[in-house]
Amino acid sequence: MAIQPTILVLGATGKVGAQIVQILAESKDVKVIAGVRSPEKAQLLREQGIEIRPLDLDKQDTLKPALEGIDRALLLTGSTVDMLKQSKAFLDTAKQTGVQHIVHIGASSAPTNEVAHWTWHQYIEKYIESLGFSYTHLRPEAFMKNITDFGWLNQGVVTNYISDTRWSWVDSDDLALVAAETLRRSEVHAGKIYPLGYDTATMPEVAEILTEVIGKPYQVENYSPEEFLEKMLKLGAEPAYIHCVYTQLKLNIANQIPNADTTFDNFEAITGRQPTKWREFVAKNRGELSY
Ligand SMILES: NC(=O)c1ccc[n+]([C@@H]2O[C@H](COP(=O)([O-])OP(=O)(O)OC[C@H]3O[C@@H](n4cnc5c(N)ncnc54)[C@H](OP(=O)(O)O)[C@@H]3O)[C@@H](O)[C@H]2O)c1
Repeated sequence: MAIQPTILVLGATGKVGAQIVQILAESKDVKVIAGVRSPEKAQLLREQGIEIRPLDLDKQDTLKPALEGIDRALLLTGSTVDMLKQSKAFLDTAKQTGVQHIVHIGASSAPTNEVAHWTWHQYIEKYIESLGFSYTHLRPEAFMKNITDFGWLNQGVVTNYISDTRWSWVDSDDLALVAAETLRRSEVHAGKIYPLGYDTATMPEVAEILTEVIGKPYQVENYSPEEFLEKMLKLGAEPAYIHCVYTQLKLNIANQIPNADTTFDNFEAITGRQPTKWREFVAKNRGELSY
């Protein structure tokens, strides 16, 4: 019997990580293990019989036990400048325990050095390479689900912090599909960098699509990047990271981020499917997006 490679997925209680675990759990080719910081959020995984290992990137003593016997790992981090030291600690330990392949979820590959957290992700990519891992670097653009996750949609009102900037967007379920596939067939995807962004829209265009697909009126309310920053700091966002997003919004409005609306044609070759466009996303998530 062929030996199944063992895959550790970080952030298994988050949106993308949870989805990756579900996809891999259905694959007979691999064994998936969920890395979990908050055990109270892992009830569903437990009920499904998925192996769970405690893993907090800020607690060095959790890393080695979580990484023992792991062949491949999905690395993602939270919205904090600590991503740099967290990733280093994880990768150094993964090297010691013999992990072979790392799939890293980074951020936009727009050609600018002005948005620091995008650059931090590229430092992490370089560190992965320098340690000699086999790797796949994923660089998603804005998640369509941000409109609900970040509170940008309330009772038919779309919050707009980017004026008439057209962004490139990805359904995070599509990101999860790509991540799962690159973990499952790491030999095919080794050494690859995949940008992920498959539809473009301004926020007013998102409101129009919501109006058409859901069949109720959606309005847009415009706010400044300064109002975004103030609100996010009050909500407890990590200051260094959220200043990066604030800078991104300001540069977007000034049209100083090249390729902010670039889309990519790699999805079908990786997954054999077509990527989700805004209209399909709205139809699929109608219940959550309607009011
Ligand atoms: N939103 C976007 O537009 C966008 C665009 C590009 C890239 N990304 C990146 O995509 C990735 C996945 O996003 P997501 O929406 O799935 O995030 P999410 O739903 O917020 O989930 C984050 C996950 O990471 C875990 N985590 C956070 N800090 C940790 C730590 N110190 N140790 C261990 N686990 C930790 C969280 O655990 P708990 O459940 O315990 O909190 C949670 O499971 C993130 O890295 C994000 O930066 C997002």
